[in-house]
Amino acid sequence: MARYSHIVGWGMYVPERVVTNDDLAKIVETSDEWIRTRTGIRERHIVDKPNESTSTLAIRAARAALEKAGLPPTALDLIIVATSSPDHLFPATACIVQDAIGATRAGAYDLSAACSGFVYGMAMAHGLIVSGQADTVMVIGAETLSRLVDWSDRNTCVLFGDGAGAVIMQAREEPGGFLASVLGADGSGANLLTLPAGGSKLPASVDTVRNGDHYIKMDGRAVFRFATRVMAEATREVVERAGLTLDDVELIIPHQANTRIIESSVVKQLKFPPEKVFINLDRYGNTSTASIPIALTEAVEQGRVQPGDHIVFVGFGAGLTWAAALIQWAPPTPELPTWKRFWYKVWYPWSRILSGYRRLRRRLFAAWLGTKERSQEELESLRSRTRRDTE
Ligand code: COA
Repeated sequence: MARYSHIVGWGMYVPERVVTNDDLAKIVETSDEWIRTRTGIRERHIVDKPNESTSTLAIRAARAALEKAGLPPTALDLIIVATSSPDHLFPATACIVQDAIGATRAGAYDLSAACSGFVYGMAMAHGLIVSGQADTVMVIGAETLSRLVDWSDRNTCVLFGDGAGAVIMQAREEPGGFLASVLGADGSGANLLTLPAGGSKLPASVDTVRNGDHYIKMDGRAVFRFATRVMAEATREVVERAGLTLDDVELIIPHQANTRIIESSVVKQLKFPPEKVFINLDRYGNTSTASIPIALTEAVEQGRVQPGDHIVFVGFGAGLTWAAALIQWAPPTPELPTWKRFWYKVWYPWSRILSGYRRLRRRLFAAWLGTKERSQEELESLRSRTRRDTE
């Protein structure tokens, strides 16, 4: 029996705080006109509460995707979080999401391929599903790059935004779903877009902080040239791999970095109709790994995606990396019955209680082990005292 991997759930979340170009013009030497004409961006959402982070955005997107799919978190076999701004170097942000949504059967890991990461994640999920190693996989793209940009560097701070998007891919017998992918990398361009410090090569120190090495550094023009080339090439290649032509493609959802990159690659080089290219970067900026799933969620909500449609996702990013996937949209999932909506409302608080219980149990066990070790020490000292007394 053939197995296909279909997208059966999707969702997104962006933080509430909106920062407009005019707001940025108050902190760096820039203007709304410059940012709009050079990038297409008008505003972006950024986290502004201390308790917000990549995992909190990812959790909201994950819950939305589960509700759309009508699936319980326990149906997930694996959670992949593609991100360049994880909560920590470790543990994986995916594990924090796994615990928060109560996906108790799921494995979880982070994937680092910068802005191409979400499409890389989908390709991994597809491979596991069609090979029978997993039935249901959640792929999340989530970022809080606002925590990594230098807010005094106008070359980078105007470009990025925060947000998260998620899809659930599931094994189905009907043909369609994920049809082809192209994954690429060219590490010779690693220096063009990088966060130099905080890893093993340049660990955090007073000097790295003083030099601003914990902020994103980018050669914008070089990245621009690379992006316009690979976006067109990867799109052409993935369509060929799927055995289709560009005329068969109803929608392209490109990585939302810059309207000029999208126009000069997909639209001009491929001569693809602009009305069949989805763009929402004017409202979100470049949300890196989150940009494609956020755009997909909005495209579906706006009725731009119909069952049977062929959709291309194509992205590029630091690494340098690039990735494209071609999917055939699955039939829509049925509306959720009211009882299931109620179930979701009780499930998340319940999974928090269970997580708290597991933590408590671990602490009690550790305390009991400590007592046991101490009492063994006491026993040993008693023995040696007895030995001394008898001697
Ligand atoms: N406001 C005003 N001026 C700015 C500015 C800003 N926010 N940022 C840069 N400038 C200035 C530059 O300093 C430069 O001035 P100079 O000529 O005196 O040196 C001038 O604008 C033009 O810079 P340039 O780099 O040629 O602009 P550009 O047309 O290439 O646009 C980017 C700059 C960053 C928008 C563009 O190169 C880009 O989008 N690159 C890709 C970046 C990207 O997508 N990164 C994420 C990858 S996932």
